[in-house]
Amino acid sequence: MKDIGKGLIGTAVDRVEGPAKVAGTARYALDGTAPGMLWGHLVTSRVAAGRLLALDTGAASRSPGVVAVYSPFAPLPIPPLPSVSNPSGARHAPLADPVVHHHGQPVALVVADTPERARAAAASVIATYAAAPAVTGVDAGPATVPGDVEHGEGADIGYSLDGRTVAQALADSDMVVSGRYRTAAQTHVALEPHSTLAWWTGDRLHVRTGHQAIPWLVGELAATFGLDPADIDAVVPHVGGGFGGKTRAGVDVKLACAASKVLGRPVKIVLTRAQVFTATVVRGMTDQRITLGARRDGRLTAIRHHSRSAEAAVLSDLLVAPGHAVTRMLYGADAMEISQRGVTVNLPRTGFMRGPSEVPGLFALETAMDELAHRLGIDPVELRLRNDTPVYPGTDLPWSAKRLATCLRVGAERFGWDERPREPGARREGDHHVGFGMAVTAYRAVRIMPVTVAVTLRADGCAEVATSAVDLGTGMATAIAITAADALDIPIDRVRPRLGDSALPPGGVALGSTGTASVTPAVAAAARAAMDEVLACAAADPRSPAYERPAGAVTVCGGTLRAGATAVPFAEALSSAGRSAVTGTGATAPRGAFDGGRAHWSFGAHFCEVRVHRLTREPRVTRMLGVMDIGRVVNAKAARGQIIGGMVWGLSTALFEGLDFDPRGAMANGNLADYLVPVNADVPDIDVVLLDEPDDAHNELGVRGAGEIGAGGVSAAIGNAIHNAAGIRLRDVPMTIDRMW
Ligand code: MOS
Repeated sequence: MKDIGKGLIGTAVDRVEGPAKVAGTARYALDGTAPGMLWGHLVTSRVAAGRLLALDTGAASRSPGVVAVYSPFAPLPIPPLPSVSNPSGARHAPLADPVVHHHGQPVALVVADTPERARAAAASVIATYAAAPAVTGVDAGPATVPGDVEHGEGADIGYSLDGRTVAQALADSDMVVSGRYRTAAQTHVALEPHSTLAWWTGDRLHVRTGHQAIPWLVGELAATFGLDPADIDAVVPHVGGGFGGKTRAGVDVKLACAASKVLGRPVKIVLTRAQVFTATVVRGMTDQRITLGARRDGRLTAIRHHSRSAEAAVLSDLLVAPGHAVTRMLYGADAMEISQRGVTVNLPRTGFMRGPSEVPGLFALETAMDELAHRLGIDPVELRLRNDTPVYPGTDLPWSAKRLATCLRVGAERFGWDERPREPGARREGDHHVGFGMAVTAYRAVRIMPVTVAVTLRADGCAEVATSAVDLGTGMATAIAITAADALDIPIDRVRPRLGDSALPPGGVALGSTGTASVTPAVAAAARAAMDEVLACAAADPRSPAYERPAGAVTVCGGTLRAGATAVPFAEALSSAGRSAVTGTGATAPRGAFDGGRAHWSFGAHFCEVRVHRLTREPRVTRMLGVMDIGRVVNAKAARGQIIGGMVWGLSTALFEGLDFDPRGAMANGNLADYLVPVNADVPDIDVVLLDEPDDAHNELGVRGAGEIGAGGVSAAIGNAIHNAAGIRLRDVPMTIDRMW
């Protein structure tokens, strides 16, 4: 777009909501109150599989302040929804039946007049179970075609360019490497725990919750409770992190909505930190096998990737974490054979988590690529360059804009890749082996979500930008303000973003890294429509210099309407025409993976330096660089923050994080004391380069998402650096110190 690239876009802009957050005045769903509000507290299962036989709720019911106790034996009216994408099942409805699918599954809800009384009464509920053996891993047991393979083209995908099977192509290869890679289950633990406040006015449902997608929330609640979507008033204020864990109506949402209906009073449910671990969603573990065949020059002949991943027994209409999808698109080979299988496990609901497919998948693929580079004696960067493909592999489809080679070259230069030790173990500094590692990252930019935005220009000179998009802390409000300020050519402090309310035009979803790329074009279009409205007002205003001037003779720029030598601020033009405000709307049309004859992906490259202690073998990351192509950058500060956040999570995935389950299936580290995440001392200074070149085939502004690409590939880059440092090849994450031996 020609008239927008000149102002704030691409510069580093402070968050518009920053002062409110720092001052503590920003309100989150967790802060919500309503007159006469009751509090619900969950009782959760102590076994991971089996049946709830009985619940003694007598003491709880007699506890002071308790209004109701719900359970599978005294259920709330929450019909299970047919699954959108899983033909084999329905979405689980909380407390609907006594079957226990996982440790920490809600088995009762106690509602009382204060949170303390609800919690105390919940503690007095005594449950009796018939426990069954729990499946908590994917290594063994029957695997099935998963119900939801949303992230791939199917469960079995691949192609052959020359008619040879992968087995034949492997047999013809100069070099074959093969490995088994496993990734642990992980959890989001967003700072703001999941919470919901709900109440009804007649048949109208009001809900206040932390959520990533108002259109999805409204759709799910409308289907569950048989409502017209227009009768749902959903407000998602500031959100203290989502990361994929707040994409569907969780147990707190459905229980609060149903209980408040039955009780005729507002009900608020806040999950405890422990319940956030078990009663929300997790990234399932994966077990992946990859075989790569290559010519002596490093060009890939065959790729085989078979992936097993966890699929929760408690169906949630979410995906298993498929390791395989990114393999399909990253490198060209003569033949490819990729499969995805699910193993039904007694885990919390498996669902989206930042880079759902890409984080586990890239760990496996990019570790295998490093093994191939090592065996062939080819530099790992050079191996990637030789396998860079100008088309979506196996097809003639070009990319919307692919700058992977630039990311690799810029990164290698900036990182000083030339200094990489040529052989594993070749460099020692003091007590540490020092090594460099790299890996490629990629993330789908395959979806543009439908978004509508309304821009209202007011006679006070301000512009209100309204859409139901939510800001998870990613900087959406600021991206909207930047885009509107540039499109209207007014200072950003005159832009008022209004977000997170179902009463506003539908603002798409804050997931799949689709937010910024979907919302900003609609903002620009709405701004143009609003300015056209100003022009129309002026043209009809006899006092205006624009009165009855031919179209084209009057323009709006700099917040000012110009006709010949006369300039009138748009606020003045509106007052003169007797209008207090005008509104223009704009929309972004949805777009799918390969629409427009191009494949839309983002690419990047990670580089890191790791030191491994020669005695303890403790690995520490001492330098990290990420070079990303996310198209045109909207806010350099927020985009950099997103990439850094992703890279820190990648480091965490590599070295720290993993849910552990005891033999009975109980989560052994479902708390912030035992669930390891890096602290500041574990995280080096992180260097980020954003190429910042527009992807004009992607959308009107050339913008792609930045939310998830930074997290992908990091665990492989760190593992590859460990190998370069100490000659130790780890194929399981997290790469904890015990696995270094
Ligand atoms: Mo993201 S895992 O699509 O919120």
